[in-house]
Amino acid sequence: MSRARITGTGSALPDKIITNRDLEQMVETSDEWITTRTGIKERRIAADREYTSTFAVEAGRRALAMSGTGADELDLIILGTVTPDFPFPATACIIQKELGAHKAAAFDLSAACSGFMYGLSIATTHIRAGAAKKALVIGAEVLSRVVDWTDRNTCILFGDGAGAAVVEACEGESGILSTHIFSDGSHWDQLYLPAAGSRNPASCQRTIDERLYYLRMEGNDVYKHAVRAMEEAAITALNANGMSPSDISLFIPHQANRRIIDATAKRLGLSEDKVFVNLHTYGNTSAASIPIALDEANRSGAIKKGDIVLMDAFGGGFTYASALVRW
Ligand code: COA
Repeated sequence: MSRARITGTGSALPDKIITNRDLEQMVETSDEWITTRTGIKERRIAADREYTSTFAVEAGRRALAMSGTGADELDLIILGTVTPDFPFPATACIIQKELGAHKAAAFDLSAACSGFMYGLSIATTHIRAGAAKKALVIGAEVLSRVVDWTDRNTCILFGDGAGAAVVEACEGESGILSTHIFSDGSHWDQLYLPAAGSRNPASCQRTIDERLYYLRMEGNDVYKHAVRAMEEAAITALNANGMSPSDISLFIPHQANRRIIDATAKRLGLSEDKVFVNLHTYGNTSAASIPIALDEANRSGAIKKGDIVLMDAFGGGFTYASALVRW
């Protein structure tokens, strides 16, 4: 059976920056509050004519270029997103057209902040089963369009962007050692977007006046579950491979909140130098956060050949996921 290996990474971010100081002018908050509660200093925000596909296509192109893969070689394009260009068709189909990936099957995957990791798991399974040879997995979001910019509880947390990875069949020691995906639907209403689906069809009186097109979150509950779930996903990955936290060269957690990352790393007994963090510059980019971090770590030389890299996600649903990779 072939192994699946990540052979290229890419990311793309909007140019526009909103700092904590900018947010002080928009809602009652402070740089000090945001920094101490979340670790976020600034986030990137899409311009008017930039969409989820805009960043996804660019991140995909960069990942393909690094891997030396032609778009027409792709069998599969999987986009993890909760902010597609449209409810349908799949934004992955728009990406397919823009890249010229004629023979790829393309679909979107809704697993909130775990979307990229779910996609990575599906691509890996397809490759190991021989159903695909080359896949492009993307996490991309324009959350700024569904964030309520009058709600200080949520608007300080999120940002826009995309990250991508080319995954392909290979032989040998390096590659994706395992992926694990989990869901706990009993908490679906703690982080969700009420409108734009079949429960709350468009209506001026209801969906617009009641601000149902904006995401809602029970921050405290999400926080507690995130730490527990990310620890469980990480331990499951290590146990499945007969490894312990000391084997990890680099831990790439979902970039939601510095305190969640630190608490998870502490539970795993990982020192700070083994934890990749970039959320101070991008905030929580949901499905894009892990592939953006992976691309930055890869391009900066923070990951070297042979390293053991653990990726660990948590998001609305709740969903959570891990992937252990020998680079
Ligand atoms: N600026 C200033 N004050 C704020 C604020 C802001 N941006 N947002 C909330 N507050 C206030 C609250 O209104 C509350 O005031 P009150 O005591 O007068 O009611 C106070 O700060 C404390 O709020 P609380 O919600 O208890 O803060 P917290 O320490 O739990 O931090 C989060 C809030 C959202 C940062 C934290 O719960 C969190 O990170 N949760 C996880 C969110 C997340 O990562 N979601 C995505 C997961 S994929």
